[in-house]
Amino acid sequence: MTRRSKKNPFTFMEVLEQHVRESRVSFHVPGHHNGTVHDPSLPTAFHKIMPYDLTELEQLDDLHQAEGIIQQGEEALGTLYKSKSKWLVNGSTAGNWSMLAATVKRGERVYVQRNSHKSVWNAIEWLGLEPILLSPELERGSGIPTVVNLATVQEAVERYPGGKALLLTSPTYYGDMADIQAISTYLNQHMIPLLVDEAHGAHLIYDGLPRRSAIFEGASAVVQSAHKTLPAFTMGAWLHYKENVDENRLFHALSSFQTSSPSYLIMASLDHARTYLEHLTERDWSSIQTSHFAFVMELKRAGFAVKVGDDFTKVTILTYPKNGLIFSRHLASIGIDIELAAEDHVLLCLPLREIKMEEIHHWVKLIQNASKHVPLIEDDETIYPYPSTEQVSKLTMLHDVVKTVRLSFQDAVGQIAAETIIPYPPGIPWILKGEMVTEEKVRVLVEWISLGRKLQASRHVMMKQIDVIVEEF
Ligand SMILES: Cc1ncc(COP(=O)(O)O)c(C=O)c1O
Repeated sequence: MTRRSKKNPFTFMEVLEQHVRESRVSFHVPGHHNGTVHDPSLPTAFHKIMPYDLTELEQLDDLHQAEGIIQQGEEALGTLYKSKSKWLVNGSTAGNWSMLAATVKRGERVYVQRNSHKSVWNAIEWLGLEPILLSPELERGSGIPTVVNLATVQEAVERYPGGKALLLTSPTYYGDMADIQAISTYLNQHMIPLLVDEAHGAHLIYDGLPRRSAIFEGASAVVQSAHKTLPAFTMGAWLHYKENVDENRLFHALSSFQTSSPSYLIMASLDHARTYLEHLTERDWSSIQTSHFAFVMELKRAGFAVKVGDDFTKVTILTYPKNGLIFSRHLASIGIDIELAAEDHVLLCLPLREIKMEEIHHWVKLIQNASKHVPLIEDDETIYPYPSTEQVSKLTMLHDVVKTVRLSFQDAVGQIAAETIIPYPPGIPWILKGEMVTEEKVRVLVEWISLGRKLQASRHVMMKQIDVIVEEF
């Protein structure tokens, strides 16, 4: 019997459930064989979901050749986002790689926001693209890098013409959003597709929001980590695209950069995340937003300096310089795990549900208690500026083998870095391979190392050394 038909009346989850209920014999991967192979020490709850971890059986469709229940799930998603949509099982990382590969060919130029996630820089490096860097605006006061404005986009296109796509990050980690409508209108006139890394913006769908997903505002392709802001499993993401994206290239890229064994648990969670969004009523949206604002108000009333981006689910508590990491450790010690701690702030991701007043009071009290243990260092003059560069600049590309030498940070000032150094989270490179090492960058790096901020970098970076390019004459 096959349940696959042109139009299956059941959702992806329902079909999986039916499959599980039939207690079928598994002579196929994965090796837990519907959960029948397991160690007795496995927690019951974990064991219970094993049978749902299925594979591309006839009735369960194939992500890389979707024509059954996966295609239906993707179409339903597309209807919600008014676009064509694809599920991703390898996070926005695979989505960013695929968007770039679909629109820009080896050696071609692409405009990129400087504070982009490492997945974007890795893709640019391995795909052999020529990036033009666009500096974001800095928020007054906090100095947190935000979004790229229209003037910077115009300057980039005029000074460095011929780019095949422009990639922005909006919302940023901190919830700031670019003026996508204005930027896409300008880029349309130049036939340049706008790609948006919207890893943090899958929930921005409700038409009563002041700023919505870029896919409604003129972007050609948008990648969203459903797992970051919606009730989906980690790695679950999706991509939306319009007609001006070459579908053949996109599909080829998606099947190249993603696993050939897509997780049915992740896919089921994606379908669930879509359903969750679909079921949110106007009233739900209103109570979610109201409760988030109430949380922010309570934090402010308790004396915290708070930044809220255009995306209401991101709340940054500003601390004294050097206090952010200590604050986060005190929060963790009382059971509060936050999204990100930097030297002078901590970032909280709020859940996309109504937060009850009792929860708000309880949380704010706990946060207040944790803050009492953080030493006050008001007279510290340290500031952590985002590295000042030109508004638009070119990156030295190191596609070919180059000679490098390892230098102390101080000796490396003025040289071109041969490696990338990334504070994690947020995963946005502080020094990019091909970028000049400056006094300012070195000073901040030294501070981070002494404060114990987590860096994704070579071991020698912790010993204050960096590889730089040896210039050939
Ligand atoms: C802005 C941004 N883009 C892309 C990614 C990668 O997303 P994923 O973890 O879903 O691969 C992240 C992850 O933190 C991110 O913050």
